[in-house]
Amino acid sequence: MKTREIRIVVYEYQTIDELPENDRLLLLEARRITALAYAPYSGFHVGAAVLLANDQIFTGNNQENSAYPSGLCAERVALFYANANYPESEVKAIAVSAAKNGVLVNDSVKPCGACRQALAEAEVRFDSPIRIILDGQDSILVLQGVGSLLPLSFSKNSL
Ligand code: THU
Repeated sequence: MKTREIRIVVYEYQTIDELPENDRLLLLEARRITALAYAPYSGFHVGAAVLLANDQIFTGNNQENSAYPSGLCAERVALFYANANYPESEVKAIAVSAAKNGVLVNDSVKPCGACRQALAEAEVRFDSPIRIILDGQDSILVLQGVGSLLPLSFSKNSL
């Protein structure tokens, strides 16, 4: 038996103003669309903004349903919206924000497992790392690829 270490690097910022310009603009889009989420059951509003290589930005928010599993997370709404319109344009970055009772969450938002898997698919599909910006009051995290969210992931390379 030997031990292998998997290293995850997370960049942490205290405020949105410290972010590099492109990240800041993408996060502002995620914050804007968070307010428009349809989340009457959880009251947890999430917004996501996806930047494509062609410089287009697609936004999405969580869409809930009285039959709970029929709803969809913000990340996948935005990602699928982008991929549906520009299937040839690689995904460069995604920013995610979340609010409870209209107030930005304290701890930085954590994408669910299914969204991590969908992001992993996009990374493999376009063979290009996706920058991930996760919003929060206390800190904003920036990751340089889905490997930092979902290590040891399953993909077509595993088939
Ligand atoms: N949700 C997202 O939209 N993204 C996440 O990363 C986590 C959870 C949504 C799903 C549901 O509408 C609500 O937040 C509560 O789970």
